[in-house]
Amino acid sequence: KEPPRPLIVKTEQEPEIDDGTKKVTVFYGTQTGTAEGFAKALVDEAKARYEKVKFKVVDLDDYAADNEEYEEKLKKESLAFFFLATYGDGEPTDNAARFYKWFTEGKERGEWLQSLSYGVFGLGNRQYEHFNKIAKVVDEDLAEQGGKRLVPVGLGDDDQCIEDDFASWRELLWPELDQLLRDEDDATVATPYTAAVLEYRVVVHDHTDASLLDSSLSKANGHAVHDAQHPCRASVAVRKELHTPASDRSCTHLEFDISGTGLAYETGDHVGVYCENLIETVEVAERLLGLSPHTYFSVHTDKEDGTPLGGSSLPPPFPPCTLRTALTRYADLLNFPKKSALVALAAHASDPSEAERLRHLASPAGKEEYTQWVVASQRSLLEVMEEFSSAKPPLGVFFASVAPRLQPRYYSISSSPRMAPSRIHVTCSLVYEKTPGGRIHKGVCSTWMKNAVPLEESRDCSWAPIFVRQSNFKLPTDTKVPIVMIGPGTGLAPFRGFLQERLALKEAGAELGPAVFFFGCRNRKMDYIYEDELDNFVKAGVISELIVAFSREGPAKEYVQHKMAEKASDIWNMISQGGYIYVCGDAKGMARDVHRTLHTIVQEQGSLDNSKAESMVKNLQMTGRYLRDVW
Ligand code: 2AM
Repeated sequence: KEPPRPLIVKTEQEPEIDDGTKKVTVFYGTQTGTAEGFAKALVDEAKARYEKVKFKVVDLDDYAADNEEYEEKLKKESLAFFFLATYGDGEPTDNAARFYKWFTEGKERGEWLQSLSYGVFGLGNRQYEHFNKIAKVVDEDLAEQGGKRLVPVGLGDDDQCIEDDFASWRELLWPELDQLLRDEDDATVATPYTAAVLEYRVVVHDHTDASLLDSSLSKANGHAVHDAQHPCRASVAVRKELHTPASDRSCTHLEFDISGTGLAYETGDHVGVYCENLIETVEVAERLLGLSPHTYFSVHTDKEDGTPLGGSSLPPPFPPCTLRTALTRYADLLNFPKKSALVALAAHASDPSEAERLRHLASPAGKEEYTQWVVASQRSLLEVMEEFSSAKPPLGVFFASVAPRLQPRYYSISSSPRMAPSRIHVTCSLVYEKTPGGRIHKGVCSTWMKNAVPLEESRDCSWAPIFVRQSNFKLPTDTKVPIVMIGPGTGLAPFRGFLQERLALKEAGAELGPAVFFFGCRNRKMDYIYEDELDNFVKAGVISELIVAFSREGPAKEYVQHKMAEKASDIWNMISQGGYIYVCGDAKGMARDVHRTLHTIVQEQGSLDNSKAESMVKNLQMTGRYLRDVW
């Protein structure tokens, strides 16, 4: 199933005038804006180098309304670059999903892209199994379909310094582009190009001006489609702690009230939540910026005369608000600062030695120090600003170049609309950990959820802008098909939705096939979340077998995959009967180990050799019978 999309209007064809101008198209598939930022940064630098060339930066979704148009337009490209992020279980970003599906299924098109030269830069994280899968696949397929690869695919690793990976890839690119695009009149780029520090135009308003006091969020509801750009305001109806007091951790059950909002969801979908920074975090930022929290301002991407500001990479502005609101809702203050943020801080540090050290950290010579002092120790932007306290960037610089936009967090919805049509349930464990640098890191959204005030307790309850993202993680349409669910910890979330749905279906008279659920937690007395509900699902015949691995009760660790191995023949039987396998939870440890166990089960129970077992598991994946919702 494709992610939610607004109604598509076939894009206007720009009149193509062939005046001999060389053209370059830079595509991006972005989720959090990094790929988009890189695409724009590449174009900014390329424009400075090749003055007569026309560059276009294009959102992959906006490029074409349908497959036919993708083909028609791509055929005409001669030079294109692709910035592609990989998400979740090796998936494309929402805005690249349509392109990716169409393009990678295009083997029968043959070598139709012979006039295209291209380069691909991927954004991923090496900690995950499908590291940069999307970029690798598109890079391969472009070559297979006749394209000429100018540079090896760039494999940006977000676990380390992705800006450095991008910089190295760019260095490989320039000699190639020089050959293709260089004009004799172009100035030789002797000194390395340095990107300008981006800055919004800021207007500070008299905060008594009531016409401005309308934040766009109060008007947000009522959009025909709610997506990341048009979230919907939803109140917190219920909030509960799921761990017992004996646990030293915390897990929150939260219910958003979506009645009357027009927001709809299906079992297995995800909810995107825009949360807020803690006031204690915001106050530190206010102090470091040296500005009053009541400053009422707006940011603009154009000059006063309406012409656009230089630099194409400015993020879209947020609505007029006070500094406190802007820091609370829009600024990512706790991630480590990017190198470009350090450069922007340096430009506004009144102490020259601080400015110099900031520039050094962002330079190739300071690479090791940046890796250690900033990345490895997870120093937050605020900690870095504390260290360089003479750096006081003005608002326009701070929100454009120093603090990235606070991103929505995604959660697997833990309810079914058949049981809770006007509620979206979330099950979220608290992120609270000591960083290598010694700071206590409180996860922004999980902390917000833990502290949320529900409508049950106060009419003045907490609310958040939210939206629904569709997923492929769905029950089989035939209720009689056997299912195996594996979801330790908060990996239980979508299965709670599945089980609610099965219960509703059963009550409506449907016949249910067998359903085995492997759950795992540390200790029955601490973190066995939704225990009563699970017992009731068993009693109601919605779960045929509930198997729980307690990892910290006995002398040895017991994990879900150990329990699976014990049940190997049952699992094999269910697979043989056309059953589905679902895994939800941590991708780096659990899902990887469960995958290996599944492989072993298939190999041993089916008496298959290694490669046959592998192709069988692959086949289950390809046919949508082995589905994973992992993070
Ligand atoms: P642990 O914390 O004792 O290591 C939910 O978080 C449950 O998943 C916990 O019981 C946790 O055990 C367990 N868990 C941790 N790593 C795992 C892995 N690689 N595979 C399966 N379960 C794991």
